Order: sequence, then C-alpha cells, then structure tokens
Amino acid sequence: MNKIKVLIADDVEETRNVIKKLLSLEEEHIEVVGESDNGEEVLKLIQNAKPDIVLMDINMPVLNGLEATERITMEYPSVMVIIMSVQAENEYLKKAMFHGAKEYIIKPFNYDTLIGTIIATYEKYKEIQVKFKGANIDEVRNSKVIAFFSSKGGVGKSVLSLNTAILLSKSENKKILLIDMDFQFGDISMMVNQHSKKTILDAIEDGQIDSYENIKPYLFKYKDNFDILFAPEKPEASEYITKEIVEKIMKALKNQYDVIIVDTGINFNDSTLYVLDMAEKIFMISTMEIVALKNTKLGLKVMESLGYEKNKVKLVINRFNPNYGISKKEVEDAFEDGIVTFIPEDEKPVIISINKGMPLCEDKKYYKLKIGKAIEEMSKKLIS
Ligand SMILES: Nc1ncnc2c1ncn2[C@@H]1O[C@H](COP(=O)(O)OP(=O)(O)O)[C@@H](O)[C@H]1O
Ligand SMILES: [Mg+2]
Repeated sequence: MNKIKVLIADDVEETRNVIKKLLSLEEEHIEVVGESDNGEEVLKLIQNAKPDIVLMDINMPVLNGLEATERITMEYPSVMVIIMSVQAENEYLKKAMFHGAKEYIIKPFNYDTLIGTIIATYEKYKEIQVKFKGANIDEVRNSKVIAFFSSKGGVGKSVLSLNTAILLSKSENKKILLIDMDFQFGDISMMVNQHSKKTILDAIEDGQIDSYENIKPYLFKYKDNFDILFAPEKPEASEYITKEIVEKIMKALKNQYDVIIVDTGINFNDSTLYVLDMAEKIFMISTMEIVALKNTKLGLKVMESLGYEKNKVKLVINRFNPNYGISKKEVEDAFEDGIVTFIPEDEKPVIISINKGMPLCEDKKYYKLKIGKAIEEMSKKLIS
C-alpha cells in the first residue's frame, strides 16, 4: 500500500512536533511530506510535496486555515483537508466544512483519534481522488522538456530554439515556455525586441522562484500561450545561478506548460546537465565547420556516456551549405543513422529578423523560404 502523504499546517511549532511524533508511530502507513506555519506557504508546498492530506489549523498568519482550505479545494481538488480546531471554534468549523474540508478533529487529540481520522478520511475519499485524477497536480500537465544544446557558440542554438517555440505555439493548442539558459550571453530578449525586460536574475534576486505563482511576474508573455523567461543581461550574473537555483525554477515551472524549450549554455556544467537529464529530447546543434563537427561528436560521446537513450538526442546541422567542402552524405556518414536534420544557410532573412527583433517564423515572407520550412520540419519532429 502507498503511504498516505500528510502535510501539517499549524503556526505553533510545539503542536507540529507533537503531531509529527504521533504520526511517526505509524511511519509504515503515513509519511509527513511537509509542514508550515502559514496558509500561504501551504499552497506553495502542495505543488512539490503533493500531499494526500493536509492537517490544517484554523488560526494562522498570512493566510488563515479557512481561506487556505477554500483555495486548496478549488486548485487541488484531490487534496483532502482535515481541520484541526479547538472546541471554541465551532462556528469556524462549520465554515471550514462549507469551504471544502473533508473532516475535522478537535484539539487536543490523542494518537488513536488522529491516526483513525487520517486513515478513515483517506479511505473514504480515495475513490474520489481517482476520479479527480485529471485535475490532480501530478496530472495537470506533464511538461515535455526539450533542450537545445551545442558544444560551440554561434551555431544558431538561439535562432532555432526561439523559432521552434514560435512554431509550436502556432501550430498546436499548447502552452509553451522558452527559457533562455545561456546565462552569459542570452540573446533571446534581443531577438524578440524586448530588451530590458525582467529576467531570471530579477526573480532570483527578489527571492521569487519557489513556485509558478512567484515566477509568473518575471515571465514575458509573448502571446497568450507562449511565455519566455529571459536570461540576465550581465554575463557575470551567471556565476550566481547555481544548479540548485535552476532545479528550483524548473520544478516550479514544470507541469505549468505542455512544452518547455530550453536554450542552454554551451558547456556541460551542473545546471546544463540537470536540464539535459530531465529533457525528453535534446537537439544538438552544429554547423558544417569541421571544428564544430568535431566538438559535436565529442558532445554526443559525453551524452552516450551519461546513458542517454539513442533517440533522445537529435543532431541538427544548421547553416547547411553544399559549397562548404563537406557534403550532406559525408556528414550523415560521420554520425549515426537517422539522427541528422539539416537547416539551410540563409543569412539575409536570419540577420534581418534578428536585427528587427522579429523572429523569422513570425514573418510570412520568410516563413515560406526553405529555412522556414526546414525549421518547421524540425519542430514537427518534436511533437510526434
Ligand atoms: N540557418 C542560418 N543561416 C544563416 N545564418 C544563420 C543561421 N542560423 C543562425 N545564423 C546566424 O548565426 C548567428 C548565431 O546564431 P545564434 O542563434 O545566436 O547562435 P547561438 O545561440 O548558437 O550562439 C546569428 O546571428 C545568425 O546571424
Ligand atoms: Mg545563443
């Protein structure tokens, strides 16, 4: 049997400790997945801790137990709230039940009452939980993370990730997020003509990265179903952005989008590896230059040694031009079967679109060119 996951919300530390002690006697069946002293934090914790049951005190600072209960039942209908209250709070109790609490328990309670109530509530509402699974936090959205990576700069990683994101947001009724994780030289904001907007660094400095709600104001809404998280504007900022921070941000944003496209930095540091690990697909971008191809080969070897499945990594040769002394066939032969996609070189439209801050695939005139079609083909491979 799965353990029942319980989150404890009470502003009195002593009370939380007593509850934890009681629950620890049932550790085979019950697991405490988090605790908090205020209702606002409980809502944030739920996203990551995914409790089955919240033990909720009524009087708490910031957001009280009643309001928190109401929001939990609205936002996370599968989470069961059990109100803990003292006798004198009868009136509140009624309100709490009205706001969607499943059960209540009167303080002070003993071991039998606490455990009995948790198990009985869980059993009773488990069925409903199954029914509501579609609305459960696990299930709300399971973001498909797609990473664009290269072992050399200037190969077109940003151009391709941005245009892919745009095409996906157009063709599919899906919620897309593009994260510019080239923390040193992130160019996406320029490419969409949105310089000096809020960046990931602002969110980090303001301490607003623990939940989607927190990060939301730092996202740029490119259009209704397409958000972008820009990279910092000063290269030195990249030093502060540790893997732990990246992990927090990814966890907070995951499940809020159908597809998250990440334009990564160009070395295998901890943050990049974290994203590559969690990615469902990695697009490794290279050009036709022999040096780029050599580095790409090395990069692919690293990924192989990391145990990535073969079909997780796709190679994209950008700026393909038959006049550069290496043929398509030679490139294909140098890499494994079926992993290569070619994007033709076409400087004029690319440079104009960058300079105008108007992505290529946004512009009907260019979108019809070979380069636009090739990017479209590539983005289709993502959804299939
Ligand atoms: N298919 C292409 N054809 C011609 N030029 C391209 C193409 N893709 C990218 N470029 C050029 O390469 C430059 C670098 O692209 P960018 O996406 O910024 O690279 P990266 O993110 O890998 O550093 C761009 O400024 C653009 O002018
Ligand atoms: Mg770039």
